[in-house]
Amino acid sequence: MHPLANSQDASLRARAASVVPGGMWGDQNAANLPQGYPQFFSRGDGCRVWDVDGNEYIDLMCSWGPVLLGHNHHEVEEAARRQNARGECLNGPTEAMVELAETMVGMIPHADWVQFSKNGSDATTTCITIARAGTGRRKVLVAAGSYHGAMPWCSPSVAGVTTEDRAHILTFEYNDVASLERAADMARGDLAAIIVAAFRHDFARDQEMPTPEFAASARAICDAAGAALIVDDVRAGFRLHPGGSWELVGVQPDLSAWSKAIANGYTLAAVTGSDRFRAAATQVFSTGSFWCSGTAMAAAVATLGIVQRDDVVGHLYRMGTLLREGMSDLSRRHGVAIRQTGPVQMPMILFEGDTDFSRANAFCAATLQAGAYFHPKHNMFLSMAHRPYDIARALVAADHGFRAAAAVRPSAP
Ligand SMILES: Cc1ncc(COP(=O)(O)O)c(C=O)c1O
Repeated sequence: MHPLANSQDASLRARAASVVPGGMWGDQNAANLPQGYPQFFSRGDGCRVWDVDGNEYIDLMCSWGPVLLGHNHHEVEEAARRQNARGECLNGPTEAMVELAETMVGMIPHADWVQFSKNGSDATTTCITIARAGTGRRKVLVAAGSYHGAMPWCSPSVAGVTTEDRAHILTFEYNDVASLERAADMARGDLAAIIVAAFRHDFARDQEMPTPEFAASARAICDAAGAALIVDDVRAGFRLHPGGSWELVGVQPDLSAWSKAIANGYTLAAVTGSDRFRAAATQVFSTGSFWCSGTAMAAAVATLGIVQRDDVVGHLYRMGTLLREGMSDLSRRHGVAIRQTGPVQMPMILFEGDTDFSRANAFCAATLQAGAYFHPKHNMFLSMAHRPYDIARALVAADHGFRAAAAVRPSAP
């Protein structure tokens, strides 16, 4: 294998370094990835992406979640193009908003209404604001280490965040009923909401599905206290269950936050809620200059139509199972132990004893060179465009990755 060409990427990084703080913001900064990862991309098609130097990869990140059906999906693109030709940003919403809201109310059992915005952070923040408006209370319980967005109440960084921004946020351990009950006791008569990720998908650690006991106790605490149960389905939405991820544990939230996969890569977020919070949602002042733009909503109508028509969740499950089984097999053959956790549709692969991620980094750098885009620390994503052939290609790349990982001594015994 030869090192990948990267002259265009290097040149764009150098230009960005002087006009964009840090060259790139947030977790999509390629400086956080092993050397060799491109920062800039030129296009995507199906389950493949091309960087600005023309290197092609099987894409296992799917734009960090938004790409559910594959890049450049013809039906979604056609719906978006048609709406775009009529107008993207008008004086109010288009018919697509009502059609999309009707579609979501039809698909998602707890949803009696839907409100749209643009990013997952808009949706989670709107959920807690509606919960506070509806209950007249202040405290919100959040699992320690869960990611709910980049707003001051939930950002993983404390830079620029004041104590007051988080004065009414209390934490608990995901899947730990006793810890959730303790946090609820601390909130006493002031509990507005519990917000929980669809499953525990924290960065750089093993993933966990919610246990039925944990989900049921979150529901029971909210019912007893008159608080809102909020499921943050921004990352997992439409990958685990078309009706919302907590359908898998049989628990209905009062409010849910959605974004990422909803419009197959077009910019859109949504809050769904039950009738109990309809009045509060009406009172809260929610708006954004682009929150009713038509193109993304038309793309979402097409995307969710396909989710209902084509058993997208089942396909992702089958592809995820192929990848997980193939990775287990390679791990055994190379004598390099890994842990694969969470739902197969959103693969999370960590190396045993790899506390400094040196094995994961070596694996990913080699895999990238062999034409597959894995991530060393974050859960990955599969799409409807991945076929068994593509998973087999990714596994051929992973074979190179395991060879590289085997050459690195594990950092912990
Ligand atoms: C579970 C979860 N909630 C909220 C967010 C925030 O979404 P956005 O980055 O679109 O603001 C994310 C983003 O990764 C997420 O994974």
